[in-house]
Amino acid sequence: MATETGTAYVTTPIYYVNDKPHLGHVYTTMVADVVSRYHRLRVDDTFFLTGVDEHAAKVSDKAAEHGMSAQEWADNNAKAFREVFKRLEMTNDDFVRTSSERHKAKVTEYVAALKKTGDVYEGEYEGWYDAGQEEYVPENKAKETDYKSPVNGKPLVKKKEKNYFFRLEKYRDELLAFYAARDEAGNSYVQPGARKNEIVNRIKEAQDVPISRTGSGGWGIPVPGDAEQTIYVWIDALFNYLTYVDDDKRRHYWESGATHFIAKDILWFHAAIWPALLMALGKCEGYGWVWKKSVQDNQLVYAHSYWVSDSGEKMSKSLGNFLDPAAIDNTVNEFGLDALRYFLATRGPLGTTDSAFSGELFAEVYNADLANTFGNSCSRVSNMIGKYFSGKMPDKGEYESLPTEFYTPINFHFCDLIETHTERLQEQYSTIMLNLDLLSAANLARSVVESVDAYIDERKPFTLAKEWDKNETEVGVILGTCAEALRIASVLLWPFIPDACETFWERIGCDYTQQMKDNKGLGKLDAWTEWGQLEAGTPIEKGDPLFPRYQTKD
Ligand code: MSP
Repeated sequence: MATETGTAYVTTPIYYVNDKPHLGHVYTTMVADVVSRYHRLRVDDTFFLTGVDEHAAKVSDKAAEHGMSAQEWADNNAKAFREVFKRLEMTNDDFVRTSSERHKAKVTEYVAALKKTGDVYEGEYEGWYDAGQEEYVPENKAKETDYKSPVNGKPLVKKKEKNYFFRLEKYRDELLAFYAARDEAGNSYVQPGARKNEIVNRIKEAQDVPISRTGSGGWGIPVPGDAEQTIYVWIDALFNYLTYVDDDKRRHYWESGATHFIAKDILWFHAAIWPALLMALGKCEGYGWVWKKSVQDNQLVYAHSYWVSDSGEKMSKSLGNFLDPAAIDNTVNEFGLDALRYFLATRGPLGTTDSAFSGELFAEVYNADLANTFGNSCSRVSNMIGKYFSGKMPDKGEYESLPTEFYTPINFHFCDLIETHTERLQEQYSTIMLNLDLLSAANLARSVVESVDAYIDERKPFTLAKEWDKNETEVGVILGTCAEALRIASVLLWPFIPDACETFWERIGCDYTQQMKDNKGLGKLDAWTEWGQLEAGTPIEKGDPLFPRYQTKD
């Protein structure tokens, strides 16, 4: 069965520019990048968006500390984010800056429309304010944490303001019905599903939320019709997911239903306030598209856990214990970008438990999963093809033609996995990927490589080659089969380790990189995972190891 093709919209949070990027930001963006690459590989018209959130008070405060204007400070740090993402070869299609004219103009339009329908109204607010997070904490939550920030432990401040409110309370029932409908369809809006109950309970008690503030010193987007008030940074920020695709060329991405990657710290905004804003905006004239059925059915929020330090503390800028751009750079220089990408995507806190970043584990995973598996297998097979077949792809023949004595348990498993089930393998891979289970997707791809190794160890082509006249055909079948299996594995591994896979493709004469370039960056997962595409006689280059083994230093 051919995989359905379509459109995909993948986003990350937009990061505060009060400071430089750190591992946490890189992580979410990397995960979103791997998923975007997967979509492109399977021919989906994909839009991947990341960027920065600038209108926060902590940005203007930090700028003032350094004697700079908020805009200058934001410009410098936005540049640092952009550079790190570029250095890490993120394939984002645009980069949000909330100080851009485009974003400001659209947010002004949205808020004006919401004022018109009355879903945004003027009022007065008093509550517990978490200055570090720039958010109000509800009374019951504040009490639970003894009126301290649940994130950084600093005391909450009682704050009273005249401002504009969003009628969140009015949307309680619609939100609950939306959650229920998605559950019924087996496609929870909040993922992993374990995070959902807490949100649903909180929605039941949700009250209207302030969406503006005073005294921002002009740093922010003015509330339309009231220049004294600035749109609260969180509302400004959430709208980025719309402002950057709100035009004729890009609107279809939004309509396909975004996959929003975030961490658990900002789930409430994405799980309750964001869909409620969309429901409200969708009722405004000209904005029906923002909450159309396809959005309601497909948009989702994936909230991963944290990278923590060895002592279990969340890595963050305010705590100052982050892996900064220089450390990230060193890792890339030592191990290569693919290694960082692979490690983050497969060993990060994607599920509901936090992960501690450890250099030791990094080296271990690098050796086990990359150097000793894919890297080694590619070298092994191409070296033998070089030695026994003068670097030309041998004729791998047909399984049917293999004498039955070849069917030992191991190679039977191998034939079964590769030949009969290549199609199923690809389907299984897609199901896992669409479930956003990156470790299992990578493991499935690696299982093909492991089968190749087991097959070689079992069949011992290097021993068979000693009686060349008798065994030439058999050695050819074995090595040809392995090369073909590695080609398929490399297609599945591409979203994780694109550089190594592209090098390997070049060595085995596959023009997939060029095909993607010619086809707006889109691949052909279905066609490329079909068995039997490496033709006999194709030159197979040996080349240097794709992942040289890492020797641990004492
Ligand atoms: N600006 C808001 C988001 C607005 S989105 C409409 C914000 N910015 S932030 O700079 O604080 O970034 C928070 C995000 O960075 C988290 O949701 C997560 O994606 C990432 N991470 C920051 N620290 C992290 C860890 N220690 N571990 C994992 N991810 C982390 O909140």
